Amino acid sequence: MPLLAVTYVKGRPGATTTALGLAVTAPAEARAVLVECDPAGGDLMRRHELAAVPSLVDLAAAARGSSSPANVFATAAQAVTLREATASVVVAPAGGAQTRAALPELTGVGRAVLAAADRTVVADCGRLAPGSPVWPLLRLADVVVVVARARTDELAHLREHLGELVDAGAGRLVVLLGAGGVYPATDVADVLQAHVAEELAGDPAAVNVLGPLPHDRRAAAVLGGELVAGRRWRRLPLMAAYARLWIDLAPILPTEPTEQAADISTEATP
Ligand SMILES: Nc1ncnc2c1ncn2[C@@H]1O[C@H](COP(=O)(O)OP(=O)(O)OP(=O)(O)O)[C@@H](O)[C@H]1O
Ligand SMILES: [Mg+2]
Repeated sequence: MPLLAVTYVKGRPGATTTALGLAVTAPAEARAVLVECDPAGGDLMRRHELAAVPSLVDLAAAARGSSSPANVFATAAQAVTLREATASVVVAPAGGAQTRAALPELTGVGRAVLAAADRTVVADCGRLAPGSPVWPLLRLADVVVVVARARTDELAHLREHLGELVDAGAGRLVVLLGAGGVYPATDVADVLQAHVAEELAGDPAAVNVLGPLPHDRRAAAVLGGELVAGRRWRRLPLMAAYARLWIDLAPILPTEPTEQAADISTEATP
């Protein structure tokens, strides 16, 4: 099943909120699991008062030794329960040192876990920087979702990384406009596609632009563990937008294991 990487390049546009929102609204058959891979450290343990163990450290250790990704997640994931909704999450310790140590294992010898045949993995990759240890994960991902607000500063930073992002996720790059931008999605798509075509000599269709997400303090606060979910919280605008996003992503999400994932699974089978 697909691996979705969620990342951003500037500001705090709502990447972790989006990763959890996607995990909560994923179709049941996707069996989504959110894995905190932010090299700056995780947030969900503190936000949702989860246990320190199991964590990404346990996922990486299990990934090294297991040939069955399903069992790995059964032991490494915890549940975030928001009223009637539950998301499976693999938390990462704050600080980031353990995440930075775990990432090469998860994208190297243990990478069959990220390409699990029976789980959709949503990886919160945090802020992108040159030399970030999440680049190998972006290359493994079926879809790379870059959250950016449609503002001059954030788009300028995004353009700086666009070449590498297009190369890392060729045809699978989605720029998801976060809440609080000023330009419409069509203008952002025109500017980014022109940049790819003219300055990077690439295929303009390599960039999909979706969103913008609505500004929705209440839903964001529920996903951030600051507010208890009300009875109808899943109908809040941001939650509805995440549910729609799965529909918008469907055409670019592989339904069958990708060739790359299939190869990896075969390799991992003793
Ligand atoms: N659509 C939204 N509407 C209103 N507030 C939002 C929205 N999305 C996120 N927020 C708020 O923005 C803040 C940052 O969100 P989040 O933690 O998801 O950012 P991030 O991009 O992961 O950055 P970082 O990893 O540095 O925290 C939080 O307070 C969150 O509640
Ligand atoms: Mg974050």
